Amino acid sequence: MMISKQMENALNKQISLEAYASYLYLAMAAWCDRKGLEGCKEFLLKQSDEERVHMLKIFHYISEVDGKAIAPEIKQPPEEFETVTAVFETLYKHEQEVTSAIHELVDLSYKEKDYTTLNFLQWYVEEQREEEALARSILDKINLIGDSPQSLYFIDLELQKISSGSGD
Ligand code: FEO
Repeated sequence: MMISKQMENALNKQISLEAYASYLYLAMAAWCDRKGLEGCKEFLLKQSDEERVHMLKIFHYISEVDGKAIAPEIKQPPEEFETVTAVFETLYKHEQEVTSAIHELVDLSYKEKDYTTLNFLQWYVEEQREEEALARSILDKINLIGDSPQSLYFIDLELQKISSGSGD
């Protein structure tokens, strides 16, 4: 089975988006580190690793279907963020972009009757649902606690719990 050139390009574009997510979350982790937010940093480092895994899954898939996978240039993510709320709003926004990109890939696989790729993409559809839900629940918690200097300790504690798997 071979994928079309158009599908190959679209999947390579997705590699680029996942790679950027990995870099963006790494930059966010660095910002949190500078602010002394250890829990947030741990969470973002873990997310950054997950994005690399997402990227590699596509990379391997392309080569399995006899396509040409590329290692794209990654644009520089921002280094500074206004607040911890801004960090997680940016993360949520990026996840929404990734979701719509995945949905476009699903559309293309339907259009091309490429059922192998369609099947491959199901994992991403589910993953995006989970990631958006997680990002939303974090933003809800931050909005509840507030991001004043006094609240940061509690936000950080929450993120620590989530990244160690003991969050709800
Ligand atoms: Fe791989 Fe969070 O999108």
